[in-house]
Amino acid sequence: MPAETFAAPAADLLGLFPPGSRLDPDGELVVGGCRLAGLAAAWGTPLYVVAEAAVRDRVRRFRRALEASWPRARMVFASKAFPCTAGYRLMAGEGIGVDVAGAGELAMALAGGVDPARIVLHGNAKTPAELRMALDAGVGLIVIDNTDDIDRLEKMARARQPVLLRVLPGVRPDTYDAVATGQAGSKFGLPVPAARAAIGRLRRSDRLRLDGLHVHIGSQILSAEPYARAIEAVAGLGEFGVYNLGGGLGVRYTYTDHPPTPEDWVGALAGAARQFLPADAELIIEPGRSLVGPCGVTLYRVISVKGDDPCFVAVDGGMGDNLDVALYGQRFEATITSRVGGGRPVELVGRHCESGDRLISGAVLRDPRPGDLLAMAATGAYCFTMANNYNGALRPPVVFCRDGQPSLVVRRETLTDLMSRDVTPG
Ligand code: LLP
Repeated sequence: MPAETFAAPAADLLGLFPPGSRLDPDGELVVGGCRLAGLAAAWGTPLYVVAEAAVRDRVRRFRRALEASWPRARMVFASKAFPCTAGYRLMAGEGIGVDVAGAGELAMALAGGVDPARIVLHGNAKTPAELRMALDAGVGLIVIDNTDDIDRLEKMARARQPVLLRVLPGVRPDTYDAVATGQAGSKFGLPVPAARAAIGRLRRSDRLRLDGLHVHIGSQILSAEPYARAIEAVAGLGEFGVYNLGGGLGVRYTYTDHPPTPEDWVGALAGAARQFLPADAELIIEPGRSLVGPCGVTLYRVISVKGDDPCFVAVDGGMGDNLDVALYGQRFEATITSRVGGGRPVELVGRHCESGDRLISGAVLRDPRPGDLLAMAATGAYCFTMANNYNGALRPPVVFCRDGQPSLVVRRETLTDLMSRDVTPG
């Protein structure tokens, strides 16, 4: 296939960037009303940019869809997808709760002003200290993953702590192995027979109040169909007041991804719930990626352009700020911010010391040159989360953009930060 046939027109490429993204008359890419070149000039690269209004709009769409399709339903943000206090503050401001997996996320949620009653604590290896912290904070729901959670909470809980039980439904959605969690053999939750025993035990507990069940079958799932099977599987465990159906709705990283809309996904879950669950039960959903993923962009500076076939375009970031490619091969798309659309395939690589640090194989870029600014689309979920210091990389800052107003919500890490935990012997 000639290289040109890979080249997406600007309009298709723009469709992968946060809703509302556009080109200025001079051709520069604008996200959240802010020219990306201006953001890079102010805060440097790599830089995470979040289109704040787009996130708020996603939250509202899920909420409206829930209200329209089930009498008692609420949502919590799976905060692991984007855990910084500004993110927690935003979600709290939108009136939704959050799910946290451990003490760090719990501390950030509390610092971000999330009502503890709206916090759901998860984890397959919650430490006693984390359980204590959650009880002291008054988190609304603790999700039991295993019988050790029950043993510990029975000793620690003073009042009757509301809990859910995580059930492993034996459903394998079509997604990457690394993020499929509902299948037999997964480390999360209890398979149905063990769940049945745990339910019996929890129902007899005078310290724990079993409100219902939780199920989360995986992440980046591009079809609503496996959810119905998971809901059917948990329905066999009896009737409960609360069903937390997890998150997992996938997002559009590349042209061939066509995830269900939030409305379609919520509608499908509610449809299955109507078929299998008690009509008066409360439904909880906990989307992460689908709330923030499409609303974020990473900016890089092109450092070097080397060779012809392949042509390596190397940028000033990589697996230090985006682990998803190295971890499981997620495909992304990118553009030079001043030359959007068209071009030819190149190997977009990072700056880290391993061959696996290849951000996009076959990225279509128009005439990339050293010094260009490059924007990678759909990086709003799990990229900031898993940023690391490989090769001494300084973790990038985060800028929220809203109606053309940028605001720095996480500053760039400094060399002093990098060494701030080191203890000099003696
Ligand atoms: N609920 C539970 C219990 C979860 O474990 C997760 C994600 C979610 C909800 C939200 O799933 P989402 O809507 O974001 O798909 N590190 C991987 C993603 C792992 C997802 C972990 N659990 C990545 O970089 O893609």
